[in-house]
Amino acid sequence: MVRITLTVNGEKKEVDVSISESLLHVLRDKLHLRSVKANCYRGECGICTVIMNNRLVKSCQVLAVEADGAEIITVEGLTRDGKIAPIQRAFIEKFGFQCGFCTPAFVLAGHWIVNNMPKASEDEIREIISGIVCRCTGYKQIVDAIKYAIMLAHGESG
Ligand code: FES
Ligand code: FES
Repeated sequence: MVRITLTVNGEKKEVDVSISESLLHVLRDKLHLRSVKANCYRGECGICTVIMNNRLVKSCQVLAVEADGAEIITVEGLTRDGKIAPIQRAFIEKFGFQCGFCTPAFVLAGHWIVNNMPKASEDEIREIISGIVCRCTGYKQIVDAIKYAIMLAHGESG
């Protein structure tokens, strides 16, 4: 076992991990961040997406030891002082989810876009979220929610 340190949603965590353990396993099963969903474990569905060092990563494809020292954001970290983030409000108001299984991954991708690409075009938004699979919505409401979140956060949409 190896001890790693992660900053998760602003809090420092020390965790003992095996060298073959995934970041997904650490976040979901050891740190109990249940917004991080598990599905294919093969990098195909994107459901396990989190923000690591300001990059969107599929956490099943990152070894926990590779994440040592990293800063991680999950959906649990988006609400501050009881206030939801613009992307969360946008998903609610634009009906960006149905069953909700994919929603944490899309919310984090949208949050990343809001913060890093406030002038993103619809094509760019679709490109960034293309690694995440939704079986319910047809993606339109998700894209609409991300465009709306950009407007909420920055006063204009891409
Ligand atoms: S569970 Fe990670 S990509 Fe599917
Ligand atoms: S809302 Fe059901 S999989 Fe996306």
